[in-house]
Amino acid sequence: MKVTSIEFKNFRNLRDGVIIPCAGVNVIYGDNAQGKTNLIEALWLFCGGHSFRTSKDSEVIKWDTDFARLDLNFYGQERPQKASLIISAKKKLVSINGVEKKSSSSLIEKFCAVVFSPEHLNLIKRGPGERRRFIDSAICREKLQNAVALSKYNRMLIQRNALLKDIMKKPWLEDTLDIWDAQLARYGSVLIKKRLEYVRMLSERASDFHNGISKGSEKLQIKYISTENAESNDTQEEIEKKFSEKILQNRKNDIKLGVTLSGPHRDDIDILINEKSAKAFASQGQQRSAVLSMKLAEAAVLRERMGEEPVILLDDVLSELDQSRQDFLLNELKHCQVFITCCEQSNKEQLKEGKVFFVKDGTIN
Ligand SMILES: Nc1ncnc2c1ncn2[C@@H]1O[C@H](COP(=O)(O)OP(=O)(O)O)[C@@H](O)[C@H]1O
Ligand SMILES: [Mg+2]
Repeated sequence: MKVTSIEFKNFRNLRDGVIIPCAGVNVIYGDNAQGKTNLIEALWLFCGGHSFRTSKDSEVIKWDTDFARLDLNFYGQERPQKASLIISAKKKLVSINGVEKKSSSSLIEKFCAVVFSPEHLNLIKRGPGERRRFIDSAICREKLQNAVALSKYNRMLIQRNALLKDIMKKPWLEDTLDIWDAQLARYGSVLIKKRLEYVRMLSERASDFHNGISKGSEKLQIKYISTENAESNDTQEEIEKKFSEKILQNRKNDIKLGVTLSGPHRDDIDILINEKSAKAFASQGQQRSAVLSMKLAEAAVLRERMGEEPVILLDDVLSELDQSRQDFLLNELKHCQVFITCCEQSNKEQLKEGKVFFVKDGTIN
């Protein structure tokens, strides 16, 4: 997948106009607050979801105007295609190859990219919720069925937790728990199985990337931590059985506390560098490299699933990386189209092959 041009109108601080990137590495260079991230955000919006910066679409509209428009030309599924987005205060209009679509989610099957921005460091720095969201959004992107299992599981969980609180006051309701527990185990096991499969694939690829970024000096591992003791070669039936047993085992405590103590909503992933927790022990640069490796691995898995190389969007990754790690990102990510922002003149000089755009006060040259 390659972007051949993107045109902006009233998009944040960017001056109306078109840019034509190259098929390889595109360096977006400029001082702070000039519009580099705005350009990355514009590209990301064509993946069909919300911005990685805000969930309010209308924030991208240039101040004092009433709509923003983006037009993308790209090469995907072995042909040239185009998409446009018109964002106004109340709605977002999407058209793909001249055909208007009801929702921007129809872009998911058309255009694909992965994005790294500094907020993604929370994947290591923050709590397990952030990591579960990362894995879940990847498996949902893969198959609608997984998104259905996730939403059913979450609904069952809310209802079961409400029932647990009722049981505190009306103990005779305990008998009705069995039905909920069976449903929870059913949908939960689909989710756990998919997550285990995804984490295994992600770990293999992320560890290869990390090996490249760190020039062989660090080993990255990603492991799924299952509160149900599920393992990656378990069948779904085995996982369902283990999960059911765990729910039963925890029932007394669940009732006492009014919450469900085990299940995929309590699972996590462990990110280890040289066998040690990256959250507790890794330096800023190591954490950044680890998240970056995970993002590049996400792209590799997407490529295998879609048969298409996603566009790689890297915002502010280069700071805090040493020269050889920067060199890997600028010069070793062959075969895919990359957009990478930076503030340092030295970074653009490090680029061996590609195109440099200079951004100043919203003007891209
Ligand atoms: N809706 C908007 N309309 C006009 N300007 C905006 C809008 N949203 C953000 N900006 C401006 O865009 C600039 C930031 O651009 P950004 O891409 O984040 O900079 P950087 O080059 O540091 O990545 C800021 O100066 C901000 O005031
Ligand atoms: Mg920025």
